[in-house]
Amino acid sequence: MPTDPIEITVTVVQNDPVFGDPEKNKAEVAQLILGQADPRASLIVLPELFATGYQFDSRTEVWDLSEPERGPTFSFLSDLSIKTGAVLVAGLPIRRNKGVSNGALVVYGTTLLASYDKIHLFDEERDFFQEGTGPLPVISTPFGPLGVMICFDWLFPEVLRSMALSGALVVAHPSNWVLPFGPQGMILRSVENRVFTATANRVGREERGGRAPLTFIGQSQVLSPKGVLLGRASENLPEVIRASIRLEEARSKKVASKSDLFEQRRPELYRLGSD
Ligand code: ACM
Repeated sequence: MPTDPIEITVTVVQNDPVFGDPEKNKAEVAQLILGQADPRASLIVLPELFATGYQFDSRTEVWDLSEPERGPTFSFLSDLSIKTGAVLVAGLPIRRNKGVSNGALVVYGTTLLASYDKIHLFDEERDFFQEGTGPLPVISTPFGPLGVMICFDWLFPEVLRSMALSGALVVAHPSNWVLPFGPQGMILRSVENRVFTATANRVGREERGGRAPLTFIGQSQVLSPKGVLLGRASENLPEVIRASIRLEEARSKKVASKSDLFEQRRPELYRLGSD
């Protein structure tokens, strides 16, 4: 595949996993992808923790559902990559030296291109997962530079900005959104960085361990660098959305002939917390 071809297909998968049943959840995801009229794509994004479910009850439960980078989920993604020709990005609990991260794998064919551990853990995730230590990934893929962030990471604008400054033209965003403002908020993230974004969220509800129920809001979507919604899924059904994108549209950061979002930055005036 040539680098940065004219048009590529991005597929976003929205599933409704049953907690603790990875085999069933993977079979449903495979059916969603391979059941399309044409399953081929350049990039396929699955949700955060797509095969395990989200509302863990204990660290033991997290450990038991976690796996090494090259475990069964890697094999599953590799198989899908071979069948579709796509780079797969998907969230899972990854077994690390000192614990388990809320991570994502980036898989192409039989190659693990990258893994990323979520750096901003949301709410009770902080009790169960270890925080990622970076770096923020910008991955060289057959179609061009790809960034990856996981769910709540989006609400820290520095994350997507850092990846865009490092050259990412499209950002894969596995999510388990429960807060209502993500789908609209991401429009600004795409516009302010002039990048494509592909958010894969889940649907359904979990209420485990006597804790407050969580309703996942769906609305997986693909956005253009100008904030145009290229596809958005429903709030409550498993589904797949596809968008054809021209990656080179993300190269220019100009919003007017004399205004360029990256050239006009004034980092010497920004307070980013390291000073
Ligand atoms: C989230 O980060 N899963 C809300």
